[in-house]
Amino acid sequence: MSNQEVLLRLSHIEKSFPGVHALKDVSLEVRKGEVLALIGENGAGKSTLIKAITGAHAPDSGTIEFDGVTYDKMTPEIALQVGIGAIYQEFTQAPPLSVAENVFMNLRVNDGPFRDYALMCKKTKEITDKLGVDINPRALVKDLTVGYKQLVEISKALARNARFLIMDEPTAPLTDDEVELLFKIIRELKEQGMTIIYISHRLDELFEVSDRVTVMRDGEVVVTKDINEIDKPMLIKYMVGRELKESFPERDKHYGDVVLEVKDFCGETVGPVSFTLREGEILGFGGLVGAGRTELARAIFGADPQVSGELYVKGQKVHFKSSMEAIEHGLGYVSEDRKNQGVLQNMAVDFNISLPIIKKLSHMLLVNTKKEREIVQKQVDDMSIKTPSLKQRTSNLSGGNQQKVVLGKWLASESDILILDEPTRGIDVGSKQEIYKLINRLAEQGKAIIVISSEMEELLGLTDRMLVLYEGKCTGKLEKEEYSQEKVLQYASGELSL
Ligand SMILES: Nc1ncnc2c1ncn2[C@@H]1O[C@H](COP(=O)(O)OP(=O)(O)OP(=O)(O)O)[C@@H](O)[C@H]1O
Ligand SMILES: [Mg+2]
Repeated sequence: MSNQEVLLRLSHIEKSFPGVHALKDVSLEVRKGEVLALIGENGAGKSTLIKAITGAHAPDSGTIEFDGVTYDKMTPEIALQVGIGAIYQEFTQAPPLSVAENVFMNLRVNDGPFRDYALMCKKTKEITDKLGVDINPRALVKDLTVGYKQLVEISKALARNARFLIMDEPTAPLTDDEVELLFKIIRELKEQGMTIIYISHRLDELFEVSDRVTVMRDGEVVVTKDINEIDKPMLIKYMVGRELKESFPERDKHYGDVVLEVKDFCGETVGPVSFTLREGEILGFGGLVGAGRTELARAIFGADPQVSGELYVKGQKVHFKSSMEAIEHGLGYVSEDRKNQGVLQNMAVDFNISLPIIKKLSHMLLVNTKKEREIVQKQVDDMSIKTPSLKQRTSNLSGGNQQKVVLGKWLASESDILILDEPTRGIDVGSKQEIYKLINRLAEQGKAIIVISSEMEELLGLTDRMLVLYEGKCTGKLEKEEYSQEKVLQYASGELSL
């Protein structure tokens, strides 16, 4: 059978980093024209394996065979030449440039010294037409939603004639609609003969698009199965090495005083919104991406301007002009954008986690290092952050573990009011539960928490009350008893309104 033909064969791939054995004797076959899902816990080695295939990292040993040719090591040049394309966890785009300029970045479009922009746009349009999506080649990438940014990445690979496409967590930042669009594109590409490796932590999705699934654990390939031979509980068991119930942990609910009150509050593009938040309460912000949830959070946190309305923290009227002021009043904000706002990539794990508490720990300019170590170690343990040492550079951690560092930084911060924007994005099933437990524990200790999440289950399972936004306006307020997916979606789509 032609669809059994192997396009990529990895044999005995080994890769170590200082203190980390990232890939252990990995062998894997990818068949021509299939969609292979690759899953595993944070730090299991998925991205490292992908980088060995694209030549971004040289493995220590082992061979890579692509389309019948064996390589000791892949290089980015060979990968490009043979048609291997990859979309990484963090995009590599130039946001101020147009779609066409991004798609054809570093590529020749025409002969002669000047780039023919019209031709570049025409070619870009041909590519996106083939994917069945409508996107203006002249639009600036910075103005696109994440879903369309991703499309630019895919188009970029197609412009380079990729016939083997690797997607590292393509759906992590997407809304349900955008995921549908991506799946449509994946099916379209498959029709056209593309071979695809697809990495994701959203386990339900895999069943929709993949033909086979490979599970990695601690740098090893544990199993590869046809998708119809396996179900989700089995996948989880292979991933974490034990049974894991997927439910939201219970918690004791004791509400105290109102610590945050927002009255007719407007940011630049969001509002007016009014709500109160009590100690011990977890309030959800629901809505589609672009509904203004992050804008609202940032304005409350002083990261963006408050245009009108009133804000009270612990009964005191405030108007934050910077996040620093908000932090001084006990607010904390875990950003959804870990790369740009979350952590200092070049600094060590311990530095990042202790950043918001350093003021408290320092005495006469001397940081209390013993105390710092204790707090940081506790966060690392609580969230099982996988790192060879507290001194590891944060950029060397796996994507999900970087996300945990961002979270750990704020959970350690002793802020009384925490805003968590997409707290479990890119985090594996097992760790997600640890993080839910941690959030619950903080609420039990009396912290007031706001959770923004695009994952419906998480929003419904974790929060006590919910505010739903649509186009910057608050369209719905729900109490726990009224929770249902349909209701949230109706408010989120503007179909229902207060
Ligand atoms: N450049 C690097 N330097 C040092 N260690 C690294 C480097 N890249 C990855 N590692 C380590 O290798 C291991 C595997 O990481 P990898 O990024 O492949 O995990 P992953 O499966 O992609 O996880 P995630 O789901 O969180 O993205 C981790 O322990 C990580 O810390
Ligand atoms: Mg990864």
